[in-house]
Amino acid sequence: MKTYENYSLLNNNTFGIDVKANYFIEYDSVEELQQLLRSDLLAESKFMQIGGGSNLLFINDYQGVILHSKIMGIDAIEGSRCMAVLRVGAGERWDSFVEYCVSKNYGGVENLSGIPGEVGATPVQNIGAYGAEAANTIVAVECVNVKTGEERTFTAKECQFGYRDSIFKRDYKGKYIVTYVHFKLSKAGWQPNVNYGSLKDEFEKYPDKNIAAVRSAVLAIRGRKLPEPKVLGNAGSFFMNPVVSRSYYERLLKTYPDMPCYVISDAEVKIPAGWLIEQCGWKGKSVGKVAVHGSQALVLINKGGANGLDIINLSDSIRASVRTKFGVDLTPEVNIIFG
Ligand code: EPU
Repeated sequence: MKTYENYSLLNNNTFGIDVKANYFIEYDSVEELQQLLRSDLLAESKFMQIGGGSNLLFINDYQGVILHSKIMGIDAIEGSRCMAVLRVGAGERWDSFVEYCVSKNYGGVENLSGIPGEVGATPVQNIGAYGAEAANTIVAVECVNVKTGEERTFTAKECQFGYRDSIFKRDYKGKYIVTYVHFKLSKAGWQPNVNYGSLKDEFEKYPDKNIAAVRSAVLAIRGRKLPEPKVLGNAGSFFMNPVVSRSYYERLLKTYPDMPCYVISDAEVKIPAGWLIEQCGWKGKSVGKVAVHGSQALVLINKGGANGLDIINLSDSIRASVRTKFGVDLTPEVNIIFG
């Protein structure tokens, strides 16, 4: 276990916001986490668990303890000719895990290539991209109860996964810390899942129609559209794609016949927030030290030296424009921490 005092979080949030935490503690095992949860320091301070910091926006210094998992390991715990269940430590880098699966020719997570962050965060917000989401492969999530220190394993059903959503963001927010995630991957009978518009076209370019080609295609698209956080601070999509009723969408279509959508059910559709933001003229626009990315309007960027409030102010202006023009409310996908 490692404890740091008065710790700069600059390298622990992909927005590149320079704030400090009173304490930053990294633990290596479930036992160390349990020991920490019983400690006087945590009894006296507020605390939060972070992963790779790729979906966080800090507004102020954090007056408490930040916990970070270094629980590592990728172990096969079940397997047959057709599938493997891997138990993965929460502290593993997500994309290293995807790379591992692709190298073994295990199918199921290749569409989620290149997503920053760590494995422990993936069930919390059910990460998704290019027609796939973590929930498609997660079979169980091991956690520790923050109050009692007891271990509990959630089945996928108990996680109540939804679009960028799970029980860990709602009823159990802050109540459990994820320690291991179990993924079920296919070893035989894999079929590419490349129906998502831009992926379909990119995949065409690859002669071998295998798992590695899907990863390469996804990485190529991401590379074109999404800024590299080490170069330009960002947290991927800043907003969720808003869900509206089909009847409201049809009303909007009369004025905006090109408005795209993803059908969710007979009653609801999701409108790409990036499209709405672009229509309001925000794409590529700079405001001081922050900007809306020029290749994907859903991504807000720190051009250097911005603070959390600069980002929030930009976000508020964008939300107001979208509300005025389309009558649609945008909800941030990023977790905003006021300190
Ligand atoms: N669009 C625009 N202008 C833009 C951006 C998008 O018009 O500036 C429109 C286009 O019509 C495009 C459609 O929006 O065809 C969809 O765009 P894209 O394929 O980039 O996907 P998205 O819906 O904007 C979601 C995820 C991304 C994920 C991509 C790819 C959310 C909030 N975001 O974005 O996830 O990579 O799909 O599957 O669901 C993230 O969560 O951090 C993230 C990057």
